[in-house]
Amino acid sequence: MEAKKVKINKRLDLARLPQHIAIIMDGNGRWATRRGLPRNMGHKAGCENLKVIVQHIYDLGIKCATFFVFSTENWRRPKEEIDGIFAVVRDYLNEDGDDFVKKGARIIVSGDYKKLPADIVETFEHLIDKTKDCTKFTLNLAVNYGARDEMLRGINMVVREGRELASPDEFEKYLYSSGLPPLDFVIRTSGEQRLSNFMLWQLAYSELYFTRTYWPSFSPKELQLALIDFQKRKRRFGAV
Ligand code: FPP
Repeated sequence: MEAKKVKINKRLDLARLPQHIAIIMDGNGRWATRRGLPRNMGHKAGCENLKVIVQHIYDLGIKCATFFVFSTENWRRPKEEIDGIFAVVRDYLNEDGDDFVKKGARIIVSGDYKKLPADIVETFEHLIDKTKDCTKFTLNLAVNYGARDEMLRGINMVVREGRELASPDEFEKYLYSSGLPPLDFVIRTSGEQRLSNFMLWQLAYSELYFTRTYWPSFSPKELQLALIDFQKRKRRFGAV
């Protein structure tokens, strides 16, 4: 997370930011193909952009951000591409890990990340443990994550405990996102308007924002425009 001052749009109200924002970082492959580059260069550029956007979210004072890094369905991609994605994840964790502790940022993972290569699992475990008491910001990385798997995992835990739950709030404790602030705002880049098995439980009342920009080109300036749009929404949560 390198600090680089970004001008704040005057229309953005810093007192009314979402508590928890999630981003589906789509369009890395198309970004690369457009430039005549291999798809994995798109993931590398996507990772560079993740650093910039995480820093900006942190600088704005938003408390929690979830990023969709690798889905349970992404295993269907060619091995070379999967290895490329894992390589950027590995570099990111190794290069930026210490910075998280310095910044008081906690790293957590949603998903069955233990199916990743052993060295990445080890690095994740090390960082999760090292940052567990950091309270300034939470970065939740969705890795080998699928919302249906997450819910099924929760249901199975409840069944194993022989319990019957009385409310949705009780079920939330069985999800990876347990303890995180409610998910206020979800952004998907690249023009696709679908949720692709992402945070299906958590986004029941989230505001959604779709942009045609490919993820590697999604700038802090555009993030601010998305947040301005969020601030114009009337959130009723089922009431009138
Ligand atoms: C979707 O674009 C992107 C992914 C499946 C991978 C996202 C991963 C990163 C940005 C790596 C950085 C993450 C960390 C934690 C270091 P796509 O490949 O589906 O693009 P396309 O739809 O244009 O083909």
